[in-house]
Amino acid sequence: MASTDKFKRITITSALPYANGPKHIGHLAGAYIPADVYARFQRSTGRDVLFVCGSDEHGTAIPNQALKENTTPQAIIDKYHALIRDCFVSLDISFDVYHRTSEPIHHQTSQEFFLRLHEKGLLREEISEQYFDEQTRTFLADRYITGTCPKCSYASAYGDQCEKCGSTLSPSELLNPKSTLSGNPPILRPTKHWYLPLQDWEGWLKDWILQSHQSDWKPNVYGQCKSWIDAGLQPRAMTRDLDWGIKVPLKDAEGKVLYVWFDAPIGYISATRAFFEEVASSKMKYATPRRNFGKVNPEDWKLYWQDKETKLVHFIGKDNIVFHCIIFPVMLHAHGDFVVPENVPANEFMNLEGEKMSTSRGWSIEMHEYLEQFPDKTDELRYCLLSNLPESKDSEFTWKDFQAKNNNELVAIFGNFVNRALVLTEKNFGGKIPPCSSLEDIDHQLIGVLKEAPKRIAEAIELYRFREATVLMIDLARAGNKYLADTEPWKLAKTNLDRVGTILNLSLQVAASLSIVCEPFIPKTAGKLGAMLRLGDLSWEKAGQSNLIQVGAQLGQAALLFNKIEDETIERQKQLLVERSKKQSQMNPELPAAKDAIQYDAFSTMDIRIGTVLAAERVEKSEKLLKLRVDTGLDQRTVMSGIAKHYSPEELVGRQVTILANLAPRKIMGVESQGMILMAEDSEGKLRLIGPEKPVNPGSTVS
Ligand code: 2FM
Ligand code: ZN
Repeated sequence: MASTDKFKRITITSALPYANGPKHIGHLAGAYIPADVYARFQRSTGRDVLFVCGSDEHGTAIPNQALKENTTPQAIIDKYHALIRDCFVSLDISFDVYHRTSEPIHHQTSQEFFLRLHEKGLLREEISEQYFDEQTRTFLADRYITGTCPKCSYASAYGDQCEKCGSTLSPSELLNPKSTLSGNPPILRPTKHWYLPLQDWEGWLKDWILQSHQSDWKPNVYGQCKSWIDAGLQPRAMTRDLDWGIKVPLKDAEGKVLYVWFDAPIGYISATRAFFEEVASSKMKYATPRRNFGKVNPEDWKLYWQDKETKLVHFIGKDNIVFHCIIFPVMLHAHGDFVVPENVPANEFMNLEGEKMSTSRGWSIEMHEYLEQFPDKTDELRYCLLSNLPESKDSEFTWKDFQAKNNNELVAIFGNFVNRALVLTEKNFGGKIPPCSSLEDIDHQLIGVLKEAPKRIAEAIELYRFREATVLMIDLARAGNKYLADTEPWKLAKTNLDRVGTILNLSLQVAASLSIVCEPFIPKTAGKLGAMLRLGDLSWEKAGQSNLIQVGAQLGQAALLFNKIEDETIERQKQLLVERSKKQSQMNPELPAAKDAIQYDAFSTMDIRIGTVLAAERVEKSEKLLKLRVDTGLDQRTVMSGIAKHYSPEELVGRQVTILANLAPRKIMGVESQGMILMAEDSEGKLRLIGPEKPVNPGSTVS
């Protein structure tokens, strides 16, 4: 635990979610649940912890969503701030403060920060050409420009990022750029901005990350930073032409706001300021202190950001690495008063049922929807996500696995163990803890496992290995469950009540420790278990002891901690997912961009005709291809067509199809294909044949 023991306090941050829409369980797994486990564990060890988060309410994502919902940006942030905050509350994410970047204290903090860098001469003013929409007379920030991704050809990539292949882009790289405001191609216009010259900090970044954090940062995080640094750092504009955001606090900056990635991470700092102001004045608006902070004063926020003995840890998803490991640390270091993060344990992404999770495609489980469906199963979700965290590579959530984790682990191991121990104590000892008599080998083994478990869990959490920590936690319950199965106290009640007493005493000691060590992972269960065992608030250091509950202590009422999830429930959820994604794709089709105009002459060179399929067969070793024999009116010829996934050979024989007859012959899988069957392809990649409305003679031309 040395890495934390060097520090006096820990400031933990989770990425501020954009308040532009609901957030899904992939977000939860990336930046919120791991941070919460870390924060809860550190509090349990008695450390001075502050866990901050809040809504990211600037950037183009907000006005963009307002356009979509036909409302104002303010209405959007009010709506989604409340929605996301309430989900986090229900899911027991234990923020000490959940703030908003639209608050005046945040505007002030961000402007002061900007001015400090400006006054120190650390920002460069530059005029550059940027995309401008002539119709709406606005400079287009990155998210207001869409176009074709130069890397993967996705037609709806944004000016800063392609959401399909994940590449970071700049607007000038997009092919066929279009303004999202008017739909027109934008023009380039000169505009002035303030840049942070990242390249000036290369030496410092190399020392700080490449030298000092090679061994303690996760390889995915370290690797991304190294490739950024190795590729050569570029100046990054810290201002934008936009009317939604924090005004640039300079005279010659009319119509300019701070770049959202300048102000958002400062949101962690302003949330901390707001927390101490509220706690000092006992007027809580955004603060919910999770421990006793004693008497504080508003200036105490500085301790959590500026004191060298503060350990700063940022929890984020992988798409935020560069901002938290390069840009924000450069800002903090350049400012001069701040500490920089000690670690940034970013997670990869969590997929859903084999596909990338995406709210816009409807392929996601939104937090609020999960909570509507399963209001009493928040620990179950936390547990399942924790067991599957995408810590070193992308991972996968499936409803089947959720059911299995619930039924086979929480119900059959954790719940079963605790229930048997409590019910047998009730039955044999009136619910009072029986004494231990002489110990056998199997008892000593259990005591050994019990003693080691909290240390091993703590080590894993300190190293940000939350998956492993979750397994170690359930393993303690597993050890208890196995101990009961091996010792079978229910068979001994009539013959050896002393032995039954020993077994139940030890089992209840394990259950007591479990209630401490499971708290970071499944806090509601920890509370219920603690109440059944009538335990007070116990700190982490007590876990592992085999005399936590006194002999003779009266237990509370046993109740089931978890319930089985039936197959029908899971099938229903899978069905809902498919229905929602279908509905969404109809509302929001992802069509390829329109192609450039051509002259009639170019079209007239194509010989398009109607043909009749005479024969069709599958092609060996190909899932996609069918080999067709087509009567084109001119001749009978062979055409290879990639429609095997959409039509069976039998369906095709006798059908009239449209064929590009003068396409030069090509060899496909060793067969010469003489033409191309034309097809309609929808936004989901489904192919449909195109034919005449009523039968026509083969060879009829299409023009
Ligand atoms: O990617 C996002 O959702 C951003 N809103 C994260 C911001 S993190 C921090 F810098 F505020
Ligand atoms: Zn792409």
